[in-house]
Amino acid sequence: MGFKNSKVAIVGIGNVGATTAYSIINQGLCEEVVLIDINKDKAYAEALDMQHSIYFMNRNITVKAGDYSDCADADVVVITASAPMPKDSHNRLEMLTPSMNIMKSIVDSVMDSGFNGIFLIVSNPVDIMTYYVWRLSGLPKNQVIGSGTTLDTARLCCELSQLYELDSKSVEAFVIGEHGDSELVSWSSATIGGKSVSDVMEDNMSRTGDNTKDKLLQQTKEAGWDIFNRKGNTSYGIAASATAIIKSILFNENRILPVSVCLSGQYNLKNLFLSVPTIINKRGAKEIVEIKLTKDEMDALQHSASVVQDFYKDLQI
Ligand code: LAC
Repeated sequence: MGFKNSKVAIVGIGNVGATTAYSIINQGLCEEVVLIDINKDKAYAEALDMQHSIYFMNRNITVKAGDYSDCADADVVVITASAPMPKDSHNRLEMLTPSMNIMKSIVDSVMDSGFNGIFLIVSNPVDIMTYYVWRLSGLPKNQVIGSGTTLDTARLCCELSQLYELDSKSVEAFVIGEHGDSELVSWSSATIGGKSVSDVMEDNMSRTGDNTKDKLLQQTKEAGWDIFNRKGNTSYGIAASATAIIKSILFNENRILPVSVCLSGQYNLKNLFLSVPTIINKRGAKEIVEIKLTKDEMDALQHSASVVQDFYKDLQI
């Protein structure tokens, strides 16, 4: 009887793809990692470089450059490929038109291999791209996930934890909606150590200082640009976010993360992809968590939905 390796294929070996691969290897998440890029030399070189690192890792992992046929038996295919982001950009939505054909040809090639695993989409604008992949692939909606606001959530929890000198993992505050300007925080359900964030902010005014919820959200939105404007890309945060999602899939963790998922009536939204807390396991997006939102939060989420949905008509399906 054949033995199937756990396998992740990554399409697009730029900064994000390579960092994600390295992060997966470092955490020993699977037995095989395949790097696929239009620039075969780049994929080959990154794979070779990573192979040498395996000597120092906890798990013996096969890392190789490959092609789309390697996706046939992959558990997860991660797509990070996109057109280059213009240097002066301040809006992920600008990436849609130049990246659309790239995404279509990737998804067609992956599906031609016979792939039937979980797609994790990282390419921006991630919510629209994830919807696009769902439509192009014809896969059931649980098998298509976008990294969404997992990263923004980490950024917000990082800011809050620094204010109160805590481990960011002790903060449970979800950024939901679009991974972009229309995102919001479900403040009404946000807690730190079981205490509402509102109470924590009020009871610790000397640490809270002049920070307000609006300011924290604004800083969260700007964080990506603070990095991008200085180093030309962002990589570690997004790679770690993708890795956490992949871990929850491969290890069947049932971890709740705010990923971009297809809503089917939750939050009064249907057949569109936005980030909301979702239980992730080997089936992909197993179940969407419907948190109680205030009216303002609900309105903001509906606005976020209309922002992404407006772009669906531009997609060539
Ligand atoms: C960021 C990119 C991944 O926010 O959108 O860092």
